[in-house]
Amino acid sequence: MRKKIIAGNWKMHKTPAEAVQLVNELKVKVVNIHHVDMIVCPPYLAIPAVQASLKETAIRVGAQNVFWEDQGAYTGEISAPMLVNAGCSYVIIGHSERRQYFHETDETINRKIKKALEFQLKPIFCIGETLEQREAGQTFPVLKTQLDGGLAGIDAAAIQNIVIAYEPVWAIGTGRNATPEQAQEAHQFIRSTLAEKFGRPIADGLRIQYGGSVKPENAEALLSQPDVDGALVGGASLKADSFADIIQAAENLSKQ
Ligand code: PGA
Repeated sequence: MRKKIIAGNWKMHKTPAEAVQLVNELKVKVVNIHHVDMIVCPPYLAIPAVQASLKETAIRVGAQNVFWEDQGAYTGEISAPMLVNAGCSYVIIGHSERRQYFHETDETINRKIKKALEFQLKPIFCIGETLEQREAGQTFPVLKTQLDGGLAGIDAAAIQNIVIAYEPVWAIGTGRNATPEQAQEAHQFIRSTLAEKFGRPIADGLRIQYGGSVKPENAEALLSQPDVDGALVGGASLKADSFADIIQAAENLSKQ
């Protein structure tokens, strides 16, 4: 069985002091979680303090972005070796907000994924359609194009270090989550696309998170879908109570 994986994407929220307060509250709430991988992705500046606070815990730290070169004259960018040095083990790549506001493309996302893997950082690779694309019946072709582009040149060994996050853009930050059936339909399509690329046994072992307005009230219904292996949580990860409740929902399903 695939181990469920719950990640919190804090986006551009929390100073280092606020971040430490949040993880200090969170870590006591999840001491009895043993069947779920837990990750928090703070803003860069808070990563060292959060990492220090989580040292003796099962919660891992991720970043929200990475650049594709190791170092150099790239003003404002942060490299994979820098993130590893700061204690990160995951990195979100290709989030729709990065695609939309910072013009990231499948090609640049692919470069970032390869660089992260080179430094043993596990990418959380985000894909998802806009409302317009969904309404035009383009969901599957869009997902396929994003998978093909983002995973170009990735082999069967490397893909096993990647987590996929299906995040329909219309569900992010809107309070309007995909229904469990819509999520399952997309996840099943993603897994069959991965099976074509990497073979069925490998695709069956890959984890696909759902993201977009996940909250304690809808977590169980989404996470109980057969191809939904976790959640990438934005707003509800900014409070220890709601994030811990989502993790607990995953734990309860995993123990059944
Ligand atoms: P949301 O964000 O949970 O606030 O909708 C999810 C995400 O963008 O990863």
